[in-house]
Amino acid sequence: MTQLLSAVLLACSLQLARAATPIQLSISPPSNASAPIRKSFVSFSIEFSSFPDFAGNNSHPNNFSYNLLNNLDGLQGSKPIIRVGGNTQDYATVNASQEAALIGSYDFNKSKDYPTTISIGPAYFESYNTWPGYEYIHGLNMGKNGTIGYQTLVQSIPLICKALPVDKLATSPTTELERICYVAEYIEKTRLIRDTVKLNCPEVIESGKLRYYSPSFAGTSNSLNIIKTFQVGLDEDGGIAFIDSHNYMGGATQPGVTLQKTLMNHTAVVLNVNKHLNESTLLKSLAGIDLPYLLGETNSLYNQGAPALSNSFGAALWGVDFNLYCAATGIARVHMHQGNNYRYAAWQPVDTANETIGTKAPYYGNVMVASFLGNLTAGNVSVANIDLGNTIYESAYAAYVDDRLERIALIHMQEYNYTVGGPNAGRQKAAFTLRLPVNSGVSAVDVSRLIANGSNAITGVTFGGVSYNYELNVGRPVKLANTTAVETIKPEDGSIEIDLPWSSAVILQLKY
Ligand SMILES: *[C@@H]1O[C@H](CO)[C@@H](O)[C@H](O)[C@H]1NC(C)=O
Ligand SMILES: *[C@@H]1O[C@H](CO)[C@@H](O)[C@H](O)[C@H]1NC(C)=O
Ligand SMILES: *[C@@H]1O[C@H](CO)[C@@H](O)[C@H](O)[C@H]1NC(C)=O
Ligand SMILES: *[C@@H]1O[C@H](CO)[C@@H](O)[C@H](O)[C@H]1NC(C)=O
Ligand SMILES: *[C@@H]1O[C@H](CO)[C@@H](O)[C@H](O)[C@H]1NC(C)=O
Ligand SMILES: *[C@@H]1O[C@H](CO)[C@@H](O)[C@H](O)[C@H]1NC(C)=O
Ligand SMILES: *[C@@H]1O[C@H](CO)[C@@H](O)[C@H](O)[C@H]1NC(C)=O
Ligand SMILES: *[C@@H]1O[C@H](CO)[C@@H](O)[C@H](O)[C@H]1NC(C)=O
Ligand SMILES: *[C@@H]1O[C@H](CO)[C@@H](O)[C@H](O)[C@H]1NC(C)=O
Ligand SMILES: *[C@@H]1O[C@H](CO)[C@@H](O)[C@H](O)[C@H]1NC(C)=O
Ligand SMILES: *[C@@H]1O[C@H](CO)[C@@H](O)[C@H](O)[C@H]1NC(C)=O
Ligand SMILES: *[C@@H]1O[C@H](CO)[C@@H](O)[C@H](O)[C@H]1NC(C)=O
Repeated sequence: MTQLLSAVLLACSLQLARAATPIQLSISPPSNASAPIRKSFVSFSIEFSSFPDFAGNNSHPNNFSYNLLNNLDGLQGSKPIIRVGGNTQDYATVNASQEAALIGSYDFNKSKDYPTTISIGPAYFESYNTWPGYEYIHGLNMGKNGTIGYQTLVQSIPLICKALPVDKLATSPTTELERICYVAEYIEKTRLIRDTVKLNCPEVIESGKLRYYSPSFAGTSNSLNIIKTFQVGLDEDGGIAFIDSHNYMGGATQPGVTLQKTLMNHTAVVLNVNKHLNESTLLKSLAGIDLPYLLGETNSLYNQGAPALSNSFGAALWGVDFNLYCAATGIARVHMHQGNNYRYAAWQPVDTANETIGTKAPYYGNVMVASFLGNLTAGNVSVANIDLGNTIYESAYAAYVDDRLERIALIHMQEYNYTVGGPNAGRQKAAFTLRLPVNSGVSAVDVSRLIANGSNAITGVTFGGVSYNYELNVGRPVKLANTTAVETIKPEDGSIEIDLPWSSAVILQLKY
């Protein structure tokens, strides 16, 4: 009797597990859907010292990078905005008579990943010419003091404002400054920037296009948190256009960090993004600052990511969940940080001793996010997080275009390690049921899958059966014959049934 009962219970719980998520959809957006997503939501940040490699120069433009960026432009109907900065922005000095774009030397005690003594010459700014039509945020070194610091600031400005047409310039001051005199110094230096731009590129001032991004705080500083800084008059001159914050889920070598626990974990994503939402709320309520809040530098794990984690397909799935949760909750834009040889990079722009040129798994996450948002200039796109209860491994989002449900994203984040289970054999699936309202008018659904052999795969990723790999067509989309392209399914009695292999994601495009 007891045995029979537990067998029945087991059968029930198995069935429940398979159908645990009947998702009720509404054709018009719920009240907590986001405001219209700004164009260029999918954006990048490129390490200052790596920018010449990512972008190339006048004689050798990096067309591979350009192709990858243009793919995203084609999907989100707006070009990613490129922030040039990061840790190395604070090590850079300018030498106006230096021929080389960048001379950097490494100190492995400080970092194995980037040079910590950097001198740039005028040729550095050629890299701003190679991707026509793109908009940049240039990170100025405002941290260095003394003659060399001021010289660097003053000499960079004519180079940068002449390199960039009027509508492409915005500046972002140095990343972390922990000084009492910070605000006064910030105001002094931003005035110096304005005066120097006025002298060298008056048209930039006349156009009203010189804008500052707030200095970013890593989030750990008590003495200099962003709210206090604004309260004591950081934006006295009113030149700040965006609140710019940085974010990582954890550290590359931090004890306890794993793919499943730290990245492929919706609960962790929600907690992580909520810190920023709280900060944004407090900025409004305590400092009266109501500016768009963006993540100007972010990625999976600080210290350039961890091998086997940040470069894996699992990290691409994390990237989709993280970015869509940001979109759903009002983060204005997300700049995923990139650098040469960085484990979390979406692509490696050139061959180096440490890494082969190529499209990396995280890029496919960027592709899925841009595809889900769709053309941000064609209509008002708003995103809602669909609450699935307290799920760690599953998340769902809805995209509304001009207030009509257009796309659903489903992300399954239970780790599937194919080295252990084999590419197909042992891979479980999770079943989802979506319910449309009666008379929704939806006649069919196109399904595009984000898939690879497993969460630990670092190659062989496709989205909608398309590869963007370097070796196929220099990063342009190539439809693969050996993977499933877009499938079309028909709702039955207003229900859509769809299976997701563990460690995969889909976009459902509704057809009315
Ligand atoms: C442009 O890039 C090429 C290839 O990296 C390099 O050889 C050349 O010196 C660069 N030109 C300038 C002006 O820096
Ligand atoms: C890179 O793109 C430029 C501009 O479209 C083109 O002139 C050049 O031939 C391309 N280089 C390569 C190596 O394809
Ligand atoms: C600047 O570059 C020139 C030309 O390479 C070099 O002679 C000079 O020493 C450099 N200045 C500094 C301060 O490094
Ligand atoms: C790096 O650290 C080692 C060990 O502490 C030390 O011997 C070496 O001098 C340091 N190198 C530099 C460039 O500071
Ligand atoms: C930088 O210079 C300013 C103005 O001279 C001074 O008040 C400040 O203390 C200096 N900061 C550092 C870190 O030396
Ligand atoms: C997911 O993240 C949360 C918050 O960081 C953590 O408490 C939880 O243990 C994680 N879950 C798993 C399965 O690792
Ligand atoms: C955000 O603020 C709410 C309300 O004050 C608080 O309950 C929550 O713990 C905060 N979340 C984070 C991640 O700081
Ligand atoms: C990159 O390669 C160089 C040369 O092989 C090596 O000295 C260096 O340690 C490598 N860097 C990292 C981060 O592994
Ligand atoms: C996006 O929509 C705008 C406005 O309808 C249109 O001009 C543009 O060509 C579209 N872009 C893409 C990539 O489809
Ligand atoms: C949005 O509202 C729905 C109910 O309308 C709720 O289930 C869901 O949790 C809310 N989403 C967020 C992110 O607060
Ligand atoms: C996947 O399994 C292999 C073999 O056990 C292991 O070496 C590897 O670390 C696992 N990958 C991840 C991301 O856990
Ligand atoms: C599918 O085709 C691509 C491109 O030709 C190839 O790289 C890949 O190995 C193939 N995958 C399988 C599973 O055969």
